[in-house]
Amino acid sequence: MSEPSPTGGRLPMIGTSWKMNLLPSMAPAWFAAVVRGTSMTVDRELFVLPPFPTLAVAQAALRGSSIRWGGQDVHEDDAGAHTGDVSAPMLADLGCTIAEIGHSERRRDHGETSIRIAGKIRAALRWPLTPLLCVGDQTRGRPGTAIRIVERQLSGALDGLGQDELSRVVVAYEPVWAIGEGAQAADLDHVAALHAAIRGWLDVRGGTSVRVLYGGSVNPGNARGLLTVSDVDGLFVGRAALDPEAFVAIATMAFPPKEDGR
Ligand code: PGA
Repeated sequence: MSEPSPTGGRLPMIGTSWKMNLLPSMAPAWFAAVVRGTSMTVDRELFVLPPFPTLAVAQAALRGSSIRWGGQDVHEDDAGAHTGDVSAPMLADLGCTIAEIGHSERRRDHGETSIRIAGKIRAALRWPLTPLLCVGDQTRGRPGTAIRIVERQLSGALDGLGQDELSRVVVAYEPVWAIGEGAQAADLDHVAALHAAIRGWLDVRGGTSVRVLYGGSVNPGNARGLLTVSDVDGLFVGRAALDPEAFVAIATMAFPPKEDGR
């Protein structure tokens, strides 16, 4: 894309993970409402990551729409004796084009280490899947501390990738303290500092096309403000998007001018 855009030539991306919410039988109504509500929206990519049992429902409902679907995790091996796990070719076979990797709830609940996360990134890259790498600082603190933590996570997951591989990755910056019930989105200064640092980390490695999304208590009321932050290329929404109308409101929001005038 050579046209100026609100995100420096990178196509904005807005998506959601349902985490472990909504039953497969509830999914068709959500998909129908979101397909209907976003059908005129063409200046961004939209995606949804439902739980694994709902992926076939997503494929049936979203095939033919411009909304991408994907998995909330992926195993680092393509097949084998890994009870309960799901592989990249399985996701690809169900039409998924995205695999979320390294969400803080996976790191917490499943003890995912950098080595495993790096393996999962490579598994997604062996298949036609966009690895959506989540990084984030654990406790609210100074941006400088958070930047060091996030840079370590980026290195652990992405060091050693070729430029072609790196350019296929999407990063979500999700401060852990800003995620979930009772939390609030990070303030815009913190978001700006972290996104600028992640942008810089990626750019010096040739990842200028890698999109960096913000996640953590995004809702229809704060999405616009978050989208004004210079290096925010899109949003990754959790609980607010369980209501399809709230997701449509965020997904179809006109992009505001960036705070730095870009
Ligand atoms: P939340 O989840 O919007 O419910 O805070 C965000 C996330 O974990 O991606």
